[in-house]
Amino acid sequence: MKKTIPTDSSIHTGEVLFNKEVAPGICRMRIFHDEIARTSLPGQFINIRVSNNMEPFWRRPFSIHATHADEHWFDILYRVIGIGTQKLAFVKSGEIINFVGPLGNHFIADPAITKTSLLVGGGLGIAPMVILAHYLIQRNIHPIVFYGVRSQSELCSLPDLQALTSDIYIATEDGSVGQTGYITESVDAFLRQQTQYNELNIYACGPNPMLDRLGQIAELYHVPCQVSLETLMGCGIGACLGCGMKTRNSEKPYVYVCKEGPVFQAGEIDFSE
Ligand code: FES
Repeated sequence: MKKTIPTDSSIHTGEVLFNKEVAPGICRMRIFHDEIARTSLPGQFINIRVSNNMEPFWRRPFSIHATHADEHWFDILYRVIGIGTQKLAFVKSGEIINFVGPLGNHFIADPAITKTSLLVGGGLGIAPMVILAHYLIQRNIHPIVFYGVRSQSELCSLPDLQALTSDIYIATEDGSVGQTGYITESVDAFLRQQTQYNELNIYACGPNPMLDRLGQIAELYHVPCQVSLETLMGCGIGACLGCGMKTRNSEKPYVYVCKEGPVFQAGEIDFSE
């Protein structure tokens, strides 16, 4: 039986069960931690201390990808792009990870209003969609997944998604699998074919241009749309002000993704900058 190491209430440690590359430059790490596995909500993230020295100085934020309450683990999915994630990629199973979380707000689901949800993930934006699909099914909301990547080799966690729903649409920019083009076009085509919109909503995570376009599509069909922003974070605790996003509200022109997000209504955010 793996052990969660007890610590104070804000900082946790957990044993790494595996840490492996699942697509070129993308890794999945499984961490043994009962509390996070039981209490995390879709959209929330953890801040990992990736190094014991000062480089990088700040903890790094990672979206919670999947959880298993009975087996006491949760997963993160991450792209190896900087010094922090390079160090993380070298962590071996059996090592202990130090992190804070779960942090941030989360996707909201109301089964009294919504019967079917469109889960749109662009690239690594698929990260919160596995835990979200699971959460929706528990609330009798049917998830339909739209997953866009540049090429087939970048697809991650398809078996996890396929275990949760048979409704999965894939789009690749190079046409190597699924529809050729952007996943937003697939969402648009799907919504165009519907006759009723009042029991639908959209959840999305991915690059800002994708979220921007999706917000426009959602507005066109009058479908509520929540977006989880992938803005680069420095500190993840509201200290560096590096994660500001412009809003459409002149009285509150910026929101800070790490403290106020990462989930917002698509209509709140001004993606033009
Ligand atoms: S990441 Fe530093 S304030 Fe949000």
